[in-house]
Amino acid sequence: MRVVLLYLVLASFVLLSSIKDGSAGITSSFIRSEFPSTDIPLDHEVFAVPKGYNAPQQVHITQGDYDGKAVIVSWVTTDEPGPSKVQFGTSENKFQTSAEGTVSNYTFYKYKSGYVHHCLIEGLEYKTKYYYRIGSGDASREFWFETPPKVEPDVPYKFGIIGDLGQTFNSLSTLEHYLQSGAQTVLFVGDLSYADRYKYNDVGLRWDTWGRFAERSTAYQPWIWSVGNHEVDYMPYMGEVTPFKNFLNRYTTPYLASQSSSPLWYAIRRASAHIIVLSSYSPFVKYTPQYTWLKEELTRVDREKTPWLIVLMHVPLYNSNEAHYMEGESMRSVFESWFIHYEVDVIFAGHVHAYERSYRFSNTDYNITSGHRFPIADKSAPVYITVGDGGNQEGLASRFTDPQPEYSAFREASYGHSTLEIKNRTHAIYHWNRNDDGKKVPIDSFILYNQYWGSNRRRRKLKKNFLMTLVDEAVSM
Ligand SMILES: *[C@@H]1O[C@H](CO)[C@@H](O)[C@H](O)[C@H]1NC(C)=O
Ligand SMILES: *[C@@H]1O[C@H](CO)[C@@H](O)[C@H](O)[C@H]1NC(C)=O
Ligand SMILES: *[C@@H]1O[C@H](CO)[C@@H](O)[C@H](O)[C@H]1NC(C)=O
Ligand SMILES: [Fe+2]
Repeated sequence: MRVVLLYLVLASFVLLSSIKDGSAGITSSFIRSEFPSTDIPLDHEVFAVPKGYNAPQQVHITQGDYDGKAVIVSWVTTDEPGPSKVQFGTSENKFQTSAEGTVSNYTFYKYKSGYVHHCLIEGLEYKTKYYYRIGSGDASREFWFETPPKVEPDVPYKFGIIGDLGQTFNSLSTLEHYLQSGAQTVLFVGDLSYADRYKYNDVGLRWDTWGRFAERSTAYQPWIWSVGNHEVDYMPYMGEVTPFKNFLNRYTTPYLASQSSSPLWYAIRRASAHIIVLSSYSPFVKYTPQYTWLKEELTRVDREKTPWLIVLMHVPLYNSNEAHYMEGESMRSVFESWFIHYEVDVIFAGHVHAYERSYRFSNTDYNITSGHRFPIADKSAPVYITVGDGGNQEGLASRFTDPQPEYSAFREASYGHSTLEIKNRTHAIYHWNRNDDGKKVPIDSFILYNQYWGSNRRRRKLKKNFLMTLVDEAVSM
């Protein structure tokens, strides 16, 4: 009896201490030797203009509807408008079907944009490879993409997460590492080109170079766009005061399909995930369109169909870096309680040029009279992940607050990207890959258990269903 008791005491001690060890946050001391944080020169091959008269360039695709049976193809032509038609089909060199798009052009200061084409292709089959052709004559170009599986609770799918990319050699390294990851769709957490670091006509020019730079990925798989501060392009000194003008002319999102009134916030469902995109730089307080839309969209989330609930935004709500410290507080005070109530699995953000992952923590009990407010461990809270480390010309944010706050699980100031590999309704495998000087090095990784299906009650239900299926199968055998 005594031995058993002793054993129990020892066992619980080991258990407790391992929990404590597991929860100590890590600040990685890794310091990476980096390429200089300067943009790749204009004459570099990554920005090469495709050959031929009026050849389509800056090709990019995104999801075109709520559930993944449509794609929007976008591109730019420079010599003349040319056709806005996309020809497509399921076998190479056979483009049986075509869709008609739109073309537009705009100015930014004295810069005149090329002709920007957007074409929606609808009624696609799920889980099918499509080849597509754009442009005309000798200068037409061909690409392909794969549609996602039908929206169902247990379909596996692999997302990549990239933020704050820019167009430096570090950006190129991130993109090349991402291309090796085998992920199927990019969740982009804002700050695309950093063209606003330039002045006058060079702003438009650097939006063009970024479009050509990213094409190696964006032409072949959807990038789910969310906007950052570098998309605002508010430049009164040259008379440009319409926010998001470059971004909105060049990039489209399927916002109408999720009943949003703005391309800057919207939602899609893809495979087994419901993805909500928010705009950190659009009004979000009570009664604003974004607030009202999010409130309704959260009620449309059906965890029986899409077990995974993912939110994207640019400014992190939890950030222990000195860079952009507390900038997410305003949105956190408005939306955090909803994210907990609706059992959001993970929130990806960018903005801070470093990597950070939180434990499940919340900070929603604010008493303005007593001033009482501090984050507490909270199993129902989302995991917050900052991946603002795509590699733009502003360089790394390497000063973290000291000591590391309790909510912070892992942080490192290195360039990289993440992947989220959904296995089924309960398990997803998460990785953060540091770009270690030309090598793809997975550093931070863990199994993400689904917030909704992980609860005891639903796990029991799932087990019961599973047993019933076994019984059914046994009976029918
Ligand atoms: C759009 O292109 C047409 C034809 O090249 C040109 O005449 C017009 O000025 C352009 N519009 C803008 C806003 O740049
Ligand atoms: C807020 O703090 C004040 C002062 O400590 C206290 O009297 C009040 O009950 C608190 N309110 C809530 C809602 O906890
Ligand atoms: C879900 O995936 C995980 C990881 O691959 C696996 O261990 C688990 O058994 C799977 N669950 C079901 C219900 O298939
Ligand atoms: Fe930013």
